Amino acid sequence: MKTYLVTGAAGFIGANYVKYILAKYSDVKVVILDALTYAGNLGTIAKDIDNERCFFIKGDICNRDVVDGLFAEYRFDYVVNFAAESHVDRSIENPQLFLITNILGTQNLLDCARRAWVMGKDEQGYPTWRRGVRYHQVSTDEVYGSLGAEGYFTETTPLCPHSPYSASKTSADMFVMAYRDTYKMPVTITRCSNNYGPYHFPEKLIPLIIKNILEGKRLPVYGDGSNVRDWLYVEDHCKAIDLVVREGKEGEVYNVGGHNEKTNLEIVKLTIATIHRLMADNSEYRKILKKKVKDANGEISIDWINEDLITFVKDRLGHDQRYAIDPTKITNALGWRPETKFEVGIVKTIEWYLENQAWVEEVTSGDYQGYYEKMYGK
Ligand code: NAD
Ligand code: TYD
Repeated sequence: MKTYLVTGAAGFIGANYVKYILAKYSDVKVVILDALTYAGNLGTIAKDIDNERCFFIKGDICNRDVVDGLFAEYRFDYVVNFAAESHVDRSIENPQLFLITNILGTQNLLDCARRAWVMGKDEQGYPTWRRGVRYHQVSTDEVYGSLGAEGYFTETTPLCPHSPYSASKTSADMFVMAYRDTYKMPVTITRCSNNYGPYHFPEKLIPLIIKNILEGKRLPVYGDGSNVRDWLYVEDHCKAIDLVVREGKEGEVYNVGGHNEKTNLEIVKLTIATIHRLMADNSEYRKILKKKVKDANGEISIDWINEDLITFVKDRLGHDQRYAIDPTKITNALGWRPETKFEVGIVKTIEWYLENQAWVEEVTSGDYQGYYEKMYGK
């Protein structure tokens, strides 16, 4: 039996990861710690919380008493830290929140784990550790900064963050490595490219575009849409994290990416075309459209779902031009490869959103005001 503390699992990737490990292993216990910020939603994991194999605690990773209390109650083998403020645009507006959650929160988790897991000291005074324990930090390719037209990020690419978000994630990574080097703490880090898939909060590019199309709103593309991201289906990321937590070498960093570079404009055009095709093939999907336009026969029209919806808007400040990951290390060391082709993953993702409109309503209801609404109005 392995016991996990998984933080931030009411959010996009953490929730997918918990679902993945609960389905894969019968002998695991998972304790989720999540502060339920705007990005965390209990509904996303409600069915997984059975209080036998999966438990939920609402709390802040920065709170020492809360985290210490969990270490006192459970004998954790693994800590997997997803909890973070994750939206670059929000980090431009409120950098300090990113510093608090992403840096101080990570350091608090590391320290609580350190104190709970230390067994004694070796001859040189370094701590000795409970057998088999592991702290895993879920990091991002954004710590490497931005690429030009050529080349890839490898694990030895110098860290060169530009946004407050990536600066905070870089600092967190540095703390993880400092705990490795100073205390010989058993840690690993994965740095992944942009994820997409179910439960992605609908203010990030792909789910925002899907939501806006269904609502008949404009599709905001920052700058000229030429920025490149390397998209990976979320389940492939979860598989990589599972491999690294269980089989990765202590102290190592692994880059995770799909070799699937696309410009933002390509992503938006592909999403428009895919939704149009799915709607054309399935009349039930057409009923989901909130913008109701009838054709000459009185049927729901989808003619307006086209590239004219695209609106080029003011560019993001300090917008990184291109991210692209070289995943050779994790492929050679652990046999990981992206399994979901983008053409398949994007259809699965769009179908998931079409079939889970109640989830979209739930996570964007109440006080929530999305970036799109704030910037461009309803
Ligand atoms: P998300 O914003 O969807 O979810 C973040 C979760 O963390 C939410 O459930 C939120 O409630 C929780 N949280 C925030 N502050 C907290 C705090 N102080 N204490 C406890 N919980 C808190 O994020 P995501 O997209 O799922 O990203 C998860 C992790 O993966 C992040 O660390 C992010 O930096 C990293 N990452 C994301 C991507 C991506 O494409 N989304 C790519 C690479 C790495
Ligand atoms: P995002 O999903 O915020 O992820 P990240 O900034 O972490 O890469 O954005 C992905 C890309 O899409 C990024 O280059 C910014 C761009 N973008 C838009 O053009 N329009 C939008 O409305 C959003 C949210 C993002």
